[in-house]
Amino acid sequence: MSDAEALLIAQDLRREYHMGDDLVRAVRGVSLRVNRGDYVAIVGPSGCGKSTLLNLVGGIDHPSAGSVTIDGARIDQMSDADATRFRLRHIGFVFQRFYLMPALTAIENVELPMAEARLPRNHRVRRARELLAYVGLGDRHDHRPAQLSGGEQQRVAIARALANKPQLLVADEPTGELDAKTGTEMIELIAQVNHDGTTIIVVTHDEDLARAARRVVHMRDGVIVDDRRQDPP
Ligand SMILES: Nc1ncnc2c1ncn2[C@@H]1O[C@H](COP(=O)(O)OP(=O)(O)OP(=O)(O)O)[C@@H](O)[C@H]1O
Ligand SMILES: [Mg+2]
Repeated sequence: MSDAEALLIAQDLRREYHMGDDLVRAVRGVSLRVNRGDYVAIVGPSGCGKSTLLNLVGGIDHPSAGSVTIDGARIDQMSDADATRFRLRHIGFVFQRFYLMPALTAIENVELPMAEARLPRNHRVRRARELLAYVGLGDRHDHRPAQLSGGEQQRVAIARALANKPQLLVADEPTGELDAKTGTEMIELIAQVNHDGTTIIVVTHDEDLARAARRVVHMRDGVIVDDRRQDPP
């Protein structure tokens, strides 16, 4: 695989936490390459380091050792301010608990990353409308998070994550708080986002979600123990 194909290259990543006299080795030497357009699920037992790894490859957290290159940029070497700017343009995040701004409406939540990227208001509103329609919420623009169902809130979170047209979407347990039916709809939406060109890395305990990915990476005790492609569902 050439580097032109690889959107993400992580090399020998380590993340340790000092807890008093104890050292927690959450990620203990992980190397991972993810091609442009790929869809990777990271699975494994609770506490094996999935979220820690996702936060490292998403530039939310700094590794204790190793490197992360996204689209040719070494994000592990960036200052916090540069990493924040880079994430805003290149990476979309979706979390189990949605993390929408409670005081803002759906459309305002989707506009927020575009406002941070200083896009003009008319452009923001137009794109936020398109994104809400894309995630199936064209009729919920003016609802605040508390006025939306869990599944609808996660749709807003996906629209927000896509606001600045990131190459990479990272999601940590995006169906973790949803019931089975809403979870299935979310799995379909995430597959659609990948089909439309966004590279996806998703951490999940949800077997149906993992089955929808093109590639499944198994972690255990802070390392990758299995990494294989699977046939499309
Ligand atoms: N901020 C932190 N400080 C100290 N230890 C941490 C911290 N974050 C995570 N850990 C530890 O690192 C290990 C990996 O945690 P991580 O959250 O990555 O697991 P996970 O695979 O995402 O688990 P789950 O499936 O339950 O979400 C765990 O043993 C955890 O206790
Ligand atoms: Mg986790």
